[in-house]
Amino acid sequence: MSGGQRDQRTRTTLATLARQKAAGEPVVMVTAYDFPSARVADEVGVDLVLVGDSAANVVLGYDSTVPVTVDEMLVLTRAVRRGLTHPLLVADLPFGSYEASDEDAVRTAQRFVKEGGADAVKIERGGTSIARARAIIEAGIPVVGHIGLTPQAATALGGYTVQGRTADRAEQLVRDADALAAAGCFAIVVEAVPAAVAELLAGRLDCLTIGIGAGGATDGQVLVWHDLLGLTTGHVAKFVRRFADLHTETVRGLTAYADAVRAREFPGAEHTYAIGDEELAALRARLT
Ligand code: KIV
Repeated sequence: MSGGQRDQRTRTTLATLARQKAAGEPVVMVTAYDFPSARVADEVGVDLVLVGDSAANVVLGYDSTVPVTVDEMLVLTRAVRRGLTHPLLVADLPFGSYEASDEDAVRTAQRFVKEGGADAVKIERGGTSIARARAIIEAGIPVVGHIGLTPQAATALGGYTVQGRTADRAEQLVRDADALAAAGCFAIVVEAVPAAVAELLAGRLDCLTIGIGAGGATDGQVLVWHDLLGLTTGHVAKFVRRFADLHTETVRGLTAYADAVRAREFPGAEHTYAIGDEELAALRARLT
């Protein structure tokens, strides 16, 4: 097995994740939104794949996660499902699909499991989401919470900014995390929170903490596919490390293709199908 890969025969379950936390073995989560990416995540052997509503930004071109619909997310979730065998598949419930009532939350979560093939769902915020998480879990569907910078509530939070920098705000995060854990969430994503606050959370919670912009002490890490592979152009958050530069490589490849077509250098003979001389002659005769 090469670096970063783990035994792909190990299918991720809630029990294997709990064992990883107990053993202090870091949990790897990544977003994916389509079949080929899911195949790669499967091949590498990540533990969890999240069909994040960040798809709204990085795949569908919206300027926030708010507009993405359940139906759009279901198309992406099904595509990822078809590409995965071993990682646990978590789907984000989009804004507006779960907040109003427990019934809405359960119905939407059931659609992601039944129609999308998700193993678990993720919902954002504390507050009313704590009751929603409990209702979904009571309906038999595992839930991941998400606190700190919760993009669905970015306007209310004052933008895409670090959360929990005062004792008051950090205490609120801890209370929310405690309540989500008590509701039965098996993991909580902690986004854009000071490392010391995230460390405190990881130490007190029995469930997994999965950080993004929350330092190295959480039980696992998650990054957005397009950010970590350098497909995102322009500004990226401070917490992103680009592990590859696929944008540059994609531009290079596409430019080479366009140049080759324009120069009539592609397709070459090796990309071309032949017809027998006699058949061609017969065709020509018919067309004259
Ligand atoms: O939508 C998403 O990609 C997420 C991750 C950043 C955790 O929620």
